[in-house]
Amino acid sequence: MPVSQPRFGVWSNVYGAWGSHFHPDDPSDASWMRNLSLVQQAEALGFSSTLIAQHIMNPTGNERDQLETWTSAAAFAASTRMIEIIAAVKPYLFHPVVLAKMALQIEEISGGRAALNLVNAWYKPEFERAGIRFAHHDERYAYGREWITVVRRLFSGDRVTFRGRYFQVEDYILSPPSRFRSRPAIYLGGESEAARALAAEHADAFFINGQPLHDVREIIHDLARRPRLDAPLRFGLAGFVIARKTEAEAREALDYALSLAEKDAPGHKSVLDGADADAVMFKTFAKHANVVGTNGGTSAGLVGSYAQVADRISGFNDIGIELFMLQFQPFESEMRRFAEEIIPRVAHARSFS
Ligand SMILES: Cc1cc2nc3c(=O)[nH]c(=O)nc-3n(C[C@H](O)[C@H](O)[C@H](O)COP(=O)(O)O)c2cc1C
Repeated sequence: MPVSQPRFGVWSNVYGAWGSHFHPDDPSDASWMRNLSLVQQAEALGFSSTLIAQHIMNPTGNERDQLETWTSAAAFAASTRMIEIIAAVKPYLFHPVVLAKMALQIEEISGGRAALNLVNAWYKPEFERAGIRFAHHDERYAYGREWITVVRRLFSGDRVTFRGRYFQVEDYILSPPSRFRSRPAIYLGGESEAARALAAEHADAFFINGQPLHDVREIIHDLARRPRLDAPLRFGLAGFVIARKTEAEAREALDYALSLAEKDAPGHKSVLDGADADAVMFKTFAKHANVVGTNGGTSAGLVGSYAQVADRISGFNDIGIELFMLQFQPFESEMRRFAEEIIPRVAHARSFS
């Protein structure tokens, strides 16, 4: 499949750490100042995007700090110049009229760099303890479908009347719409059939959790054959990177990262205890052992020598992955290593392919 040159993004550090909360050189820190500095560094290093995941309470331990997504997205918009700001949103937490307005304001502040990542929720306590109903898996997606339909129509700047099962919107208009392009970009992250169908219908890009190339190829094949109203669907992949000069050094670094995981066991238990049993994503995660990072993490195989990691990225790019959304630990120094060692290798390889 013809794909554009790969782009690289970083996950904002919303939980304080990707990998272990107990890494001696990467103390858990989800503060605004740390995240501002991280995203500004990413931009200066040439990363094209940042993804701000959405959780109201930290699923790895509710007493841990958690960065708020949409207020941070607005502040990133005002304090960066080029980086795309992708803010995740769980439809039940915001009425679509309110969220569409917020996204358009971030579009305005950022000069056309706003995007949302539609995620249909898996962490039950965050909803239930707030008294918000946590609907059944497929109903969440049915709600999400109406929700994104309203958001998309409002993004147009036209007057909108919508009468659905969940939303009744009458003669509503949001001004200004984007002054920079037709509307903010729409990503969707999910694994289930319901997620795939919704992405094919309403998203510009589908985010895939980190997993081996042959599994990613099947997902892309399944999504790319579905009918579309808009331009072809684009694809992003989550991954945790461990790149070193040699494969042996990378293996050693992976072993070290795994050795820290023992202390994180209560955090993993908190995640699994709170997860919806019907969320397909966790069934995929369960297929892979010894993983570092969230959303598939090292299952994407971006662990190895600089040449190996660059090759694997090219391999994913060949099958249709355009955006690589990356986690590191310690974040800032490993992000810099990636920018210095991997991005130029990939750029060189792709310029000859
Ligand atoms: C790249 C990516 C980012 C995600 N970000 C979030 C997030 O910020 N918050 C969240 O609750 N779920 C997030 N998810 C999880 C999806 O929403 C998840 O797959 C869904 O909740 C479970 O639905 P499923 O059964 O379709 O997998 C993300 C998934 C992917 C692939």
